[in-house]
Parts: sequence; C-alpha cells; structure tokens
Amino acid sequence: MEVPSCQCRSSYDDCKKTADWLLVRTKQRPRVAIICGSGLGALADLIDDKIVFPYQDIPVAGHAGQLVFGKLQDRECVCMQGRFHYYEGYSIDTVTYPVRVFFLLGVETLIVTNAAGGLNGSYNVGDIMVIKDHINLPGFCGQSPLVGHNDDRFGVRFPCMSDAYDRNLRTLAIQTAHEQNCGGFLQEGVYCMVAGPTFETIAECNILQKFGVDAVGMSTVPEVVAARQCGLRVLGLSLITNKAVTDYDSNEKANHEEVLATTGLRARDLQRLVRHLVTKI
Ligand code: HPA
Repeated sequence: MEVPSCQCRSSYDDCKKTADWLLVRTKQRPRVAIICGSGLGALADLIDDKIVFPYQDIPVAGHAGQLVFGKLQDRECVCMQGRFHYYEGYSIDTVTYPVRVFFLLGVETLIVTNAAGGLNGSYNVGDIMVIKDHINLPGFCGQSPLVGHNDDRFGVRFPCMSDAYDRNLRTLAIQTAHEQNCGGFLQEGVYCMVAGPTFETIAECNILQKFGVDAVGMSTVPEVVAARQCGLRVLGLSLITNKAVTDYDSNEKANHEEVLATTGLRARDLQRLVRHLVTKI
C-alpha cells in the first residue's frame, strides 16, 4: 500500500547519511547526547575538546544552532545547542531527526532539558523537575513522530511508553541533585507538551491540572518518543520558569521574558547537575 507523502518520515538512509558524515569528521564516539532547552544552551560552553558542527553545514539538517561534540567532566558527549520546535514551523519529523542521528552515532542515553510552566500548586519558580512521565497532547491529534511508514531498523511499530523516563536515571538525577545542593528545589512530576506558541488559557491550565500534569511546555515529547522507539534511555529535566495561571482573579500573565529571566537564574544549577550526572552514566 502506498504511504501518503504528507506522512512520510525521514528515511533511515537520510539519517544514516548525516550520521556517517559526522562520524568521518570526529573520532569521538559519544554514548550520551544532551538536548539543551530554551536559555539552557550554555551547558555546551562547558564542553572540553570541542568539535562544533553548525547545523547549516550538516547534510540534510540546515537550520540554526550547532552540534557540539566533546567532553563534559571527561565523559564524551554530544550536545544540541539549539533544538527545533514544532511551533517554529518545523515538522515533527524534523524535530526528531537529530535523535535518530544520535541513535545511528551509537548514542545510548539521551538527556533532554526544557523550560516549563508549573501547574502543580506546590512548585516554585526556579524548581527543577525530573520528568517521571509525559502527556503527548499533540500526539492525541496525530502529531507523533512515529506516524507514517515504520522502518523497523529504528524500532517497532507500536513502542511502549509506560517506561519512557528511565527509573535508574531518575534515581541517579535525584541523588546527584542532593549532592550538588539542588535538593531544596527538586521535584519529580508529569510533563505535558502543548504545541504552542500561545501560553495556555486559564481553562486549559485547569484541564491540564485535572489531567495530573505538573508542568507544561512546548517541546521534548516528540524527541523522547523517537528516542524510546530506537531504544535510547531517557532522562528529562524541566526548569520551572513561571507558574501557569489557573485563577480568573489573578493578574499574573505568562510571558517569555519571565521564562528567560528564570532560566538565567537557574541555568548554572542545572548545568552543574547535568555535568556531574553524565560522569555517573
Ligand atoms: N507554558 C508552555 N510552555 C512554557 C511555559 C508555559 O507556561 N513556560 C515555559 N515554557
């Protein structure tokens, strides 16, 4: 049966071409990949022995940002400084393309960071949330990176998502957070992806709270779905940059400036946490 062209995914051969292009240009063979969320890209600046590939130089990629290979605390890793968001107009396929390339590079563990709005009433701005589970709201409407022809070399047609966020990595993250004096602002909870780019209405926030969502954001879930399909272990960390508004009497308004200001305040803590964590993986 012919697959509708609008639902075709990047081919295995395209991803392999990108991976092979990278493999001949670096001797590094990282087992850990890190996707930096909005305002959290400075993590890549801490990498030693850097080899940097601007996305526009990489065959098939061609967008803004860069891929940084190198060592974090002597541990080889590859870091995406700049990710592709669905709300920017990239297809879900493009959003997840780098994850499939990571898989073909030999990466085994993916660490994803993001900025998110706090829905759990006990969360504070500046908290770091270890993601325990997610709700794929765009996926409810068919926006999943796995829609379309399935190439079994990436994984099974119907992957399980009940263990999307690796329990051992979560335990390690919590342990490391306490060692790094981040325990006082650490949470563990459920992340929900919305397509954005609008912040949520009060009614939407109320629904999400009833769904059991602790934090809401506009990224991460497609990458995690693609990563889990090809067997990568995943750790997700959300920085709570603002409190989602759930009360009609509130004068608070979610805004991007607050999101960036909070990431600026907590970025160093998150970087320290990830830097020490990678040495234990
Ligand atoms: N909603 C959605 N995405 C976000 C938010 C929010 O409140 N804060 C940071 N990213």
